[in-house]
Amino acid sequence: MPLVSMRQLLDEAAKGGYGVGAFNVNNMEQIQAIMEAAQQTKSPVIIQASRGARQYAQDRYLYHLMLAAAELYPEIPIAMHQDHGNSFETCKSAIELGFTSVMMDGSLKADGKTPTEFEENVEVTRRVVEYAHERGVTVEGEIGVLGGIEDGHGAGGSGLEHVTDPDQAVEFAERTGVDALAIAIGTSHGAYKFSKKPDGSVLKMDLLIEIHNRLPKTHLVMHGSSSVPKELQDIVNQYGGHLKETWGVPVEEIQLGIKNGVRKINVDTDNRLAITGAIRKVLWESPEKFDPRDYNKPAREAMQKVVATRMVQFGQAGHAGDYSAVSIAEQAKGYANGTLSTAPLVSAK
Ligand code: G3H
Ligand code: 13P
Ligand code: ZN
Repeated sequence: MPLVSMRQLLDEAAKGGYGVGAFNVNNMEQIQAIMEAAQQTKSPVIIQASRGARQYAQDRYLYHLMLAAAELYPEIPIAMHQDHGNSFETCKSAIELGFTSVMMDGSLKADGKTPTEFEENVEVTRRVVEYAHERGVTVEGEIGVLGGIEDGHGAGGSGLEHVTDPDQAVEFAERTGVDALAIAIGTSHGAYKFSKKPDGSVLKMDLLIEIHNRLPKTHLVMHGSSSVPKELQDIVNQYGGHLKETWGVPVEEIQLGIKNGVRKINVDTDNRLAITGAIRKVLWESPEKFDPRDYNKPAREAMQKVVATRMVQFGQAGHAGDYSAVSIAEQAKGYANGTLSTAPLVSAK
C-alpha cells in the first residue's frame, strides 16, 4: 500500500472506536520493529520522525526506509508523520520530502522551549493547514504545552504548568482547521513523568473528557504517553543502567482516553527503554561480543514486543484490512470540495 494520510487512519479509527499508536523512529531497526509488530497484529500504523530524527538519519535515508516499509508490507496502511514540527519551514520541508502528515507544534516557539501566545500559535498553524491541505497532507496542532525537556522538546517543568484550556481548544480548532488536536493534560516527554502512579491530581483525564465533550468529532492526540513499565526499567538497571524510580501513563488511562476521542497516542520512551535494556543485557552477559547484529537483533525484537503489545491495548490490532488506501491527491480534492471539512462540531459547555 502507498503511504496514506494520517487523516484517513484517524477517521477510520474514529469509526471503529479505537486508537492508533504513533511510534518514533530514528533508524532502520526501529522501522523494522514497528512493521513486524504491525504485521503480527494486523494493525494500521503511524510512524513518526522528530526533527532530531530527520537530522540523525538524514531525510533521504529515512524516506527511502519508509518506502521500503510500504513496499514490503502492502497490506498495512502506514502514515508517515513529522513529530513536533517547530516552524512552517520544517513542515513544508517534510511535505516536500513525502511525509503524509505533519505536526505543527505552535505551542512553543521555534526553539522548541519557549511557550507562545495563543494568537501566534493560531497564525502559524493556520498557515501550515492551508499549505498542507492543498497537498492532501494531514495536520496535527497543539494547544497547551507539555512538560519535560529531557529529550530536547518541551517547555520544561512539570506537565501541569500549561494544561489546555477547553475554551482555547475550541477556538483553536475552529480557527486553524487542524485534522487532529494534541492537548496537554499533565503528561511530559521522556521517562520522568510522575513520581508515583498518577492520579487525577497530576494526570487530568477529567480535562480530556471535558475537551472531548466540547469537541466531540475532533481527533484528540495524547503526547508523552509512554507507560514506562517497571519491567523495562528493571532490565536497564539490572545490566548496569542508572534509572531513577519513575512512573508513566498507565495503559488503562490511555484506554479511557480512547473512549473519549483520543485517536493518536505518541510513544517513544517505552521503545527506547526496551532497546537499551536489550543491548545492555547482551553486552553485560557477553562482553566478548562486538558484532552489532548480536545486540541489534534482540533490541529490535524487544521493541517489536512493546509495539505489538501497545497495538493490541490501543485497539488498532486487526484493523489493517478494513480499508484500502485513498491517495494523497484524492485527500487534497476532499479538502477542496469540503468532504474532508475540518470545521469542528462544537457542543455547548
Ligand atoms: O518529542 C518527543 C519524541 O520522543 C522525540 O524525541 O526529539 O529526542 O527525537 P527526540
Ligand atoms: P514519550 O516520551 O512518553 O514516549 O512521548 C513521546 C511523544 O510524545 C513524541 O511526540
Ligand atoms: Zn510529543
